[in-house]
Amino acid sequence: MSTPGRAPSHSAVEQNVYKIFPNDLNAEQTVFGGLVMALCDRTALIVAERHSGTICVTAAVDSLNFLSPARTGETLLVKASVNRAWNTSMEIGVRVVAENSRTGEVRHVVSAYLTFVGLDREGRPTSVPDVLPQTEDEKRRYRSAQVRRDARLRTRDSLRTI
Ligand SMILES: CC(C)(COP(=O)(O)OP(=O)(O)OC[C@H]1O[C@@H](n2cnc3c(N)ncnc32)[C@H](O)[C@@H]1OP(=O)(O)O)[C@@H](O)C(=O)NCCC(=O)NCCS
Repeated sequence: MSTPGRAPSHSAVEQNVYKIFPNDLNAEQTVFGGLVMALCDRTALIVAERHSGTICVTAAVDSLNFLSPARTGETLLVKASVNRAWNTSMEIGVRVVAENSRTGEVRHVVSAYLTFVGLDREGRPTSVPDVLPQTEDEKRRYRSAQVRRDARLRTRDSLRTI
Protein backbone atom coordinates (compact mmCIF):
# COMPACT_ATOMS: atom_id res chain seq x y z
CA MET A 1 0.00 0.00 0.00
CA SER A 2 1.43 3.40 -0.95
CA THR A 3 1.97 6.06 1.75
CA PRO A 4 -0.67 8.82 1.61
CA GLY A 5 0.43 12.27 0.48
CA ARG A 6 1.81 14.77 2.95
CA ALA A 7 1.55 18.56 3.20
CA PRO A 8 4.83 20.51 2.91
CA SER A 9 4.36 21.69 6.52
CA HIS A 10 4.83 18.06 7.67
CA SER A 11 8.52 18.15 6.70
CA ALA A 12 9.51 21.82 6.46
CA VAL A 13 12.55 23.16 8.30
CA GLU A 14 11.51 26.65 9.41
CA GLN A 15 14.88 27.88 10.60
CA ASN A 16 18.25 26.16 10.64
CA VAL A 17 20.65 28.60 12.32
CA TYR A 18 24.40 28.95 11.64
CA LYS A 19 26.49 31.67 13.28
CA ILE A 20 29.37 32.82 11.05
CA PHE A 21 32.88 32.99 12.57
CA PRO A 22 36.19 34.08 10.96
CA ASN A 23 37.18 30.46 10.09
CA ASP A 24 34.16 30.32 7.70
CA LEU A 25 35.57 33.03 5.40
CA ASN A 26 37.32 32.89 2.03
CA ALA A 27 40.25 35.08 0.93
CA GLU A 28 37.82 37.92 0.17
CA GLN A 29 36.66 37.86 3.81
CA THR A 30 33.14 36.78 2.82
CA VAL A 31 31.60 33.41 3.65
CA PHE A 32 33.02 30.44 1.69
CA GLY A 33 30.36 29.43 -0.86
CA GLY A 34 30.93 25.70 -0.25
CA LEU A 35 29.89 26.15 3.37
CA VAL A 36 26.58 27.70 2.31
CA MET A 37 26.09 24.91 -0.26
CA ALA A 38 26.68 22.24 2.41
CA LEU A 39 24.24 24.02 4.72
CA CYS A 40 21.61 23.98 1.94
CA ASP A 41 22.24 20.28 1.24
CA ARG A 42 22.09 19.27 4.93
CA THR A 43 18.90 21.24 5.58
CA ALA A 44 17.20 19.94 2.42
CA LEU A 45 18.19 16.38 3.40
CA ILE A 46 16.28 16.73 6.67
CA VAL A 47 13.18 17.78 4.71
CA ALA A 48 13.57 14.85 2.27
CA GLU A 49 13.95 12.35 5.14
CA ARG A 50 10.96 13.75 7.03
CA HIS A 51 8.77 13.75 3.92
CA SER A 52 9.72 10.32 2.61
CA GLY A 53 10.58 8.40 5.77
CA THR A 54 13.42 6.75 3.83
CA ILE A 55 17.16 7.02 3.28
CA CYS A 56 17.70 9.89 0.83
CA VAL A 57 20.56 10.96 -1.43
CA THR A 58 21.10 14.17 -3.35
CA ALA A 59 20.57 13.45 -7.05
CA ALA A 60 20.93 16.99 -8.40
CA VAL A 61 21.33 20.60 -7.36
CA ASP A 62 20.15 23.28 -9.70
CA SER A 63 19.42 26.98 -9.66
CA LEU A 64 21.76 27.55 -6.73
CA ASN A 65 22.08 31.33 -6.88
CA PHE A 66 24.38 33.37 -4.65
CA LEU A 67 22.55 36.69 -4.46
CA SER A 68 24.74 38.55 -1.97
CA PRO A 69 27.76 37.73 0.21
CA ALA A 70 27.47 36.91 3.91
CA ARG A 71 30.03 38.28 6.38
CA THR A 72 31.58 37.39 9.71
CA GLY A 73 29.37 38.18 12.69
CA GLU A 74 26.19 37.59 10.71
CA THR A 75 23.87 34.61 11.28
CA LEU A 76 22.72 32.39 8.41
CA LEU A 77 19.06 31.38 8.67
CA VAL A 78 18.06 28.51 6.38
CA LYS A 79 14.49 27.59 5.44
CA ALA A 80 13.62 24.52 3.36
CA SER A 81 10.47 22.74 2.23
CA VAL A 82 9.41 20.09 -0.24
CA ASN A 83 7.87 21.52 -3.41
CA ARG A 84 6.80 18.34 -5.20
CA ALA A 85 7.43 14.60 -5.30
CA TRP A 86 7.23 12.28 -8.29
CA ASN A 87 7.80 8.52 -8.18
CA THR A 88 11.06 8.19 -6.22
CA SER A 89 12.34 11.77 -6.28
CA MET A 90 11.47 15.03 -4.53
CA GLU A 91 12.35 18.67 -5.15
CA ILE A 92 13.29 20.67 -2.06
CA GLY A 93 13.47 24.46 -2.18
CA VAL A 94 15.94 26.25 0.11
CA ARG A 95 16.22 29.92 1.02
CA VAL A 96 19.13 31.36 3.03
CA VAL A 97 19.17 34.83 4.57
CA ALA A 98 21.96 36.56 6.51
CA GLU A 99 20.78 38.22 9.70
CA ASN A 100 22.49 40.91 11.72
CA SER A 101 21.30 39.45 15.02
CA ARG A 102 21.90 42.72 16.86
CA THR A 103 19.67 44.85 14.62
CA GLY A 104 17.39 42.13 13.18
CA GLU A 105 18.18 43.28 9.62
CA VAL A 106 18.07 40.41 7.07
CA ARG A 107 19.41 40.02 3.53
CA HIS A 108 18.60 37.28 1.00
CA VAL A 109 21.84 35.35 0.33
CA VAL A 110 20.99 32.13 -1.55
CA SER A 111 18.08 30.34 -3.17
CA ALA A 112 18.42 26.77 -4.39
CA TYR A 113 16.47 23.75 -5.61
CA LEU A 114 17.75 20.28 -4.79
CA THR A 115 16.46 16.91 -5.99
CA PHE A 116 16.64 13.98 -3.56
CA VAL A 117 15.90 10.33 -4.30
CA GLY A 118 14.49 7.94 -1.69
CA LEU A 119 16.35 4.61 -1.41
CA ASP A 120 15.35 1.25 0.03
CA ARG A 121 17.64 -0.85 2.23
CA GLU A 122 19.30 -2.34 -0.87
CA GLY A 123 20.11 1.16 -2.16
CA ARG A 124 17.49 1.06 -4.94
CA PRO A 125 15.22 4.04 -5.66
CA THR A 126 11.94 3.58 -3.80
CA SER A 127 8.60 5.39 -4.07
CA VAL A 128 8.00 8.46 -1.92
CA PRO A 129 4.69 10.04 -0.78
CA ASP A 130 3.02 12.71 -2.93
CA VAL A 131 3.13 16.33 -1.85
CA LEU A 132 -0.27 17.84 -1.04
CA PRO A 133 0.16 21.62 -1.33
CA GLN A 134 -2.22 23.60 0.90
CA THR A 135 -1.42 27.31 0.63
CA GLU A 136 -1.30 29.47 -2.52
CA ASP A 137 2.53 29.68 -2.23
CA GLU A 138 2.80 25.89 -1.90
CA LYS A 139 0.54 25.44 -4.94
CA ARG A 140 2.68 27.86 -6.98
CA ARG A 141 5.89 26.03 -5.93
CA TYR A 142 4.23 22.68 -6.78
CA ARG A 143 3.46 23.88 -10.33
CA SER A 144 6.87 25.48 -10.93
CA ALA A 145 8.66 22.34 -9.66
CA GLN A 146 7.26 20.41 -12.64
CA VAL A 147 8.71 22.97 -15.07
CA ARG A 148 12.15 22.65 -13.44
CA ARG A 149 11.96 18.84 -13.40
CA ASP A 150 11.12 18.76 -17.13
CA ALA A 151 14.13 21.01 -17.84
CA ARG A 152 16.46 18.92 -15.59
CA LEU A 153 15.51 15.63 -17.20
CA ARG A 154 15.64 17.10 -20.72
CA THR A 155 19.22 18.27 -20.03
CA ARG A 156 20.19 14.91 -18.53
CA ASP A 157 18.74 13.02 -21.52
CA SER A 158 20.39 15.32 -24.09
CA LEU A 159 23.79 14.86 -22.44
CA ARG A 160 23.35 11.07 -22.62
CA THR A 161 23.10 11.24 -26.43
CA ILE A 162 26.35 13.19 -26.99
C1 LIG B 1 20.38 9.47 -7.60
C2 LIG B 1 20.48 7.99 -8.00
C3 LIG B 1 19.99 7.14 -6.83
C4 LIG B 1 19.54 7.79 -9.20
O1 LIG B 1 19.71 6.47 -9.59
P1 LIG B 1 19.32 5.96 -11.05
O2 LIG B 1 19.80 4.61 -11.21
O3 LIG B 1 19.67 7.03 -12.04
O4 LIG B 1 17.78 5.84 -10.88
P2 LIG B 1 16.63 6.17 -11.88
O5 LIG B 1 17.07 6.47 -13.26
O6 LIG B 1 15.62 5.10 -11.64
O7 LIG B 1 16.08 7.55 -11.26
C5 LIG B 1 15.53 7.59 -9.98
C6 LIG B 1 14.92 8.95 -9.79
O8 LIG B 1 15.95 9.91 -9.76
C7 LIG B 1 15.65 10.94 -10.67
N1 LIG B 1 16.92 11.46 -11.17
C8 LIG B 1 18.01 10.77 -11.51
N2 LIG B 1 18.99 11.60 -11.92
C9 LIG B 1 18.48 12.85 -11.83
C10 LIG B 1 19.00 14.14 -12.11
N3 LIG B 1 20.22 14.33 -12.57
N4 LIG B 1 18.21 15.19 -11.89
C11 LIG B 1 16.96 15.03 -11.42
N5 LIG B 1 16.40 13.84 -11.12
C12 LIG B 1 17.17 12.77 -11.33
C13 LIG B 1 14.82 10.28 -11.75
O9 LIG B 1 14.05 11.21 -12.45
C14 LIG B 1 13.98 9.35 -10.91
O10 LIG B 1 12.94 10.10 -10.31
P3 LIG B 1 11.40 9.61 -10.36
O11 LIG B 1 11.39 8.16 -9.96
O12 LIG B 1 10.69 10.45 -9.37
O13 LIG B 1 10.92 9.81 -11.76
C15 LIG B 1 21.93 7.58 -8.40
O14 LIG B 1 22.30 8.30 -9.54
C16 LIG B 1 22.93 7.83 -7.28
O15 LIG B 1 23.03 7.05 -6.35
N6 LIG B 1 23.69 8.94 -7.37
C17 LIG B 1 24.65 9.29 -6.34
C18 LIG B 1 23.96 9.99 -5.19
C19 LIG B 1 24.95 10.56 -4.24
O16 LIG B 1 25.94 9.96 -3.93
N7 LIG B 1 24.66 11.79 -3.76
C20 LIG B 1 25.56 12.54 -2.95
C21 LIG B 1 25.70 12.03 -1.57
S1 LIG B 1 24.19 11.92 -0.70
